[in-house]
Amino acid sequence: MQERNIHNKPLSKKDKRLIWATTRSILETDQFKHKRHGKKSKSNWNYFKRIINFLLWGTKIVGLYKRGYANVQNIEIKKHDLYFDNLPTNFEGFRILHLTDLHIDAMPELVHSILHVVDQVEFDMAVLTGDYRQDNSGDFTQIINPIAQISELLQKEFSPLAILGNHDTYLMIDYEEELKMRFLINESVQIERDGQVITFAGTDDAFSYYTDATLQTFDDKPGFKIALVHSSELADVASENGYNLYLCGHTHGGQVCLPGGKALISHQQEGKGYISGFWKLGEMTGYTSNGCGVSGVPLRFNCPGEITVFTLKKKRP
Ligand SMILES: [Fe+2]
Repeated sequence: MQERNIHNKPLSKKDKRLIWATTRSILETDQFKHKRHGKKSKSNWNYFKRIINFLLWGTKIVGLYKRGYANVQNIEIKKHDLYFDNLPTNFEGFRILHLTDLHIDAMPELVHSILHVVDQVEFDMAVLTGDYRQDNSGDFTQIINPIAQISELLQKEFSPLAILGNHDTYLMIDYEEELKMRFLINESVQIERDGQVITFAGTDDAFSYYTDATLQTFDDKPGFKIALVHSSELADVASENGYNLYLCGHTHGGQVCLPGGKALISHQQEGKGYISGFWKLGEMTGYTSNGCGVSGVPLRFNCPGEITVFTLKKKRP
């Protein structure tokens, strides 16, 4: 149902942003995570921090710290061709660069690795699915310059689209101009090539800051549609509404994994199938990126960071 103001008129984009920012500012100071199926205590985070410290000292003692640290800077470029029945013909071969979970202040030198990798790939548009900052509270202005540096390389045929993750703050959207990217906050936008369009819908983070407005982001209108969500937890709603592609991150692929890539911790409950790489829900193709940054510990094991390029292609009968 469309929300209305006191004059019984549909809310403007400005009104919606104001309501969203007010709500999220309150949720960001709350001691609970706000999830789709209820509140959840943040106390698990303290338990997680103890595990992290144990892991950090453990790797230093057994001499694995340096290797894990170096692993973070070896970001892989992953390229995938994706085939769709309903892709508009003018978007045949359209290349989308997906960046997520940069946590750019966790390891300041990582910006150079990211710039190096992004500079090597060709693409038509970039999307960023959240977690620009290391901590999930406190100052954020330290990330503006490095993210803006990266964004310089992301200016292509279409400007980059971005959403927020659970480590970000609502205050970041005031920096759209400096960051040269457009934030999608529970809204969608169409991009056009010679009269044909594809739709991108971007939600606020649903891992910690869920509100019903996130669900209202997805419409059931026909057309080729891509969902940008920080985590995989809204995949069912996107799939039910006919979205073709769902891009997310959040898990870091586990970041610290056993040999073979089995994640020790993933910070999500949607099931093992959603932790890393491709998955399918109904007709919708989903992809969970390992992300290109780190949080908790500046280490990666058996789980390389990635920058992903998807090339959209029309499925031939
Ligand atoms: Fe993250």
